[in-house]
Amino acid sequence: MDRRDFLKTTAALASVSVAAGAVGAQAQDMMDKDSDAYWQTIMDQYKVTDEFINLNAGHWGIMSEPVRQAFADHTAFINAYSSHYMGSGRRVDPNARSFSVDRQEILEMLAKKLGVRSDELVFTRNVTESMQLLISGYNKLKPGDKVLYADAAYYSMQAEMRHLRYFRGADVIRLHTPDPATYENQIALFEQGIKDNPGTKLILVTHMANRTGVIVPLKEITLMARSYGVDVIVDAAHSWGQYDFDFPDMNVDFVGFNLHKWIGAALGVGLMYIRKERMLDIDTKSSKGPPGNIDINNRVQTGTMNMAAVLSVKDALIFLDKIGIKHIDRRFKALRHEWVKEFLDDDRVDILTPEDERMHAGLTSFRINKHKNAIELGNTLLRDYKINSAPIPELNAIRISPGLYSSKQDMAALAVAIKDIVRKMG
Ligand SMILES: Cc1ncc(COP(=O)(O)O)c(C=O)c1O
Repeated sequence: MDRRDFLKTTAALASVSVAAGAVGAQAQDMMDKDSDAYWQTIMDQYKVTDEFINLNAGHWGIMSEPVRQAFADHTAFINAYSSHYMGSGRRVDPNARSFSVDRQEILEMLAKKLGVRSDELVFTRNVTESMQLLISGYNKLKPGDKVLYADAAYYSMQAEMRHLRYFRGADVIRLHTPDPATYENQIALFEQGIKDNPGTKLILVTHMANRTGVIVPLKEITLMARSYGVDVIVDAAHSWGQYDFDFPDMNVDFVGFNLHKWIGAALGVGLMYIRKERMLDIDTKSSKGPPGNIDINNRVQTGTMNMAAVLSVKDALIFLDKIGIKHIDRRFKALRHEWVKEFLDDDRVDILTPEDERMHAGLTSFRINKHKNAIELGNTLLRDYKINSAPIPELNAIRISPGLYSSKQDMAALAVAIKDIVRKMG
């Protein structure tokens, strides 16, 4: 499809499909949600530039048009109602719209989706804020206690862990992530780290690594850590919304989520989860009163937030729910497969996520072995092949992350570009 024609109305789409004789009147519901025809109707609900193919959805997600429109409407409403919406309206008129009521409704939706209680969740501005609050707020450390993190963690979370030396007097240990990653070696990495470092109290686990796309066995790592009496803080920036997993089954206590990456809400909204029974283990913010209360809201102080972004979470959840996470998971795997399959037997190109279905979703990095400059390779992809990617210099790799707006043709174009670059290198 011509990318210039990307945005079409749903009505127009339905009529095209009917005209094609492929489906009946309830086009979308009747369609096989894993078919390319179905996914075309989803892609058509995104307005994406045609100047390049955007394969860096991992930075932040592009809102679908229904979400973007709703976000614009929320912005207009909040702009018009101002502080009336923040509470003064409700105080004189019980029917006036109020942010705290709307926010609670969205928290209930999120809680239902995650399978947790809504009083275990609080909005933040992004996953960075959630993780900083969890890591720096974790108050069970005594001077000399050990904390571990893997070098696959996001750079600012690594820095936050290192800061525990000054905050809490902790002994901070960095583990080197094995490459290639396997299900077993990801668990063994942390288990060996704990065994080698008696007195370990806390580990940081990144559910899906941002540099490679490797998904670690979170449930098994948590279970293993718990058996040694070690707590786990989880960075779930990339996992929730990109692949299908049962959150309660992970059995985790402290988690940072992003809502503007794979959930597809407006930029500027994240989520923090603290299991109710563990609330006292995370410090309250000084402006929210003394320690000792168990309200998760007292563990965050964002000041005024972009309320329209928070409201857009509802629209994003509705959009995703219509598709269903099972189908999103399969779609991302199919998009990944579309280009990765071209290099599985090519030792000139390394794929940095394993083929193990449990360990990848859509986001996957590659390395051209002979090419030694990831930034330059990223520039070449953009300049010569019109493909926007994320160079990862420290791994000499390029991260590819398609969005729900991506087509199999986009992924095929990537494979052609990589092959062309490899061929030119001789
Ligand atoms: C694993 C991981 N954690 C945290 C972040 C930070 O996300 P944000 O800037 O939205 O807080 C990212 C961003 O890409 C990430 O990949």
